[in-house]
Amino acid sequence: MNDVVLGIETSCDETSTAVLVAQRGTPELASLVILSQDVHEVFGGVVPELASRAHLRVMQPVVDKALKEAGVALSAVDAIAVTAGPGLVGALLVGVCYAKGLAAADNRRLIGVHHLEGHLFAPTLDNPDLEPPFVGLIVSGGHTVLLDVLEWGRYVLLGQTRDDAAGEAFDKVAKLLGLGYPGGPAIETLATTGSDRFEFPRPLLREGFDFSFSGLKTAVYYAVRDCDDLERDRADIAASFQTAVFDVLAKKVMMALDTTGHGTVVLGGGVASSQALAVHMADAIRGHARLVVAPPRLNVDNAAMIARAGWFHLESGRTSTHYLDADARMPWPGLTRDSELLPTPSRIP
Ligand code: KG4
Ligand code: ZN
Repeated sequence: MNDVVLGIETSCDETSTAVLVAQRGTPELASLVILSQDVHEVFGGVVPELASRAHLRVMQPVVDKALKEAGVALSAVDAIAVTAGPGLVGALLVGVCYAKGLAAADNRRLIGVHHLEGHLFAPTLDNPDLEPPFVGLIVSGGHTVLLDVLEWGRYVLLGQTRDDAAGEAFDKVAKLLGLGYPGGPAIETLATTGSDRFEFPRPLLREGFDFSFSGLKTAVYYAVRDCDDLERDRADIAASFQTAVFDVLAKKVMMALDTTGHGTVVLGGGVASSQALAVHMADAIRGHARLVVAPPRLNVDNAAMIARAGWFHLESGRTSTHYLDADARMPWPGLTRDSELLPTPSRIP
């Protein structure tokens, strides 16, 4: 039984801590601290070594702040959930080492959590009744994965990106358009004033469940290179790019609904904090399934989702030992690729 679980997330450029407290058996979010590192902005992307150093500097105060905001003493924490991977290995190490120290110091249980499983659990913090089966789409800066979520802890990988992740494409296109980092929010804002008049490709639209975004990014590169007035076209290019990405995501989700027969779609990951994506997806699946999306602060990298996924594993009796290590390419426990489920061409709508 869990009483108080402390979550720690340091896989990329957010140092985050959260406290979950049991309320009549269900985990309730008592505090969440997210400290975004701004040191990377001048470089236009995350610099791994700087990320590790910044995590190290703030780890202790960020833990203290979460405990204080939750009104919980460190002595009341009975378990620690920490992101063990995937991510930047140096950044992960800071969180993992800190968590191991805190666990060893007072004999607390420890659980290493897969970052993407954290993203999948995020909506349950606001929707405690959310239960599989459902179609899950995790769209972040490092991953684009489409899942058949059979039950918590048992996932079938339907498709993933063959090159750039969706968020990565947003960041690179933002750079081409002269916008800041991270690119997703900047493109979403700009796109509200633009129109979808550039005909960008929809890669792999009808070819299975995998994604590819690098060709789309190249198409944007040529559009920017060949346009004679970027000031005039910038918003239209942003809107057209965003629509192309969302069309592909929505199409694959529809295919997954058709294949699995599920009636719920769960969106997660940083890109899922886009209101425009939520609207686009809700329109696409209307009449077929309901859409569940966590609020933006639970979709960007945060420790609440890590604590929540860890809570599930701890309740199931799983713990990590003090041999837990950071793993930049950590395999997702419980994830399988079941080729039986892949659609035959005739079943693609
Ligand atoms: O999940 P996340 O916070 O970090 C990773 O695990 O990668 O995702 C970060 C990504 C970035 O690429 C960022 O540009 C994207 O999420 N993102 C968005 C939006 N907000 C964040 N993409 C599109 N529209 C947004 N509003
Ligand atoms: Zn993430």
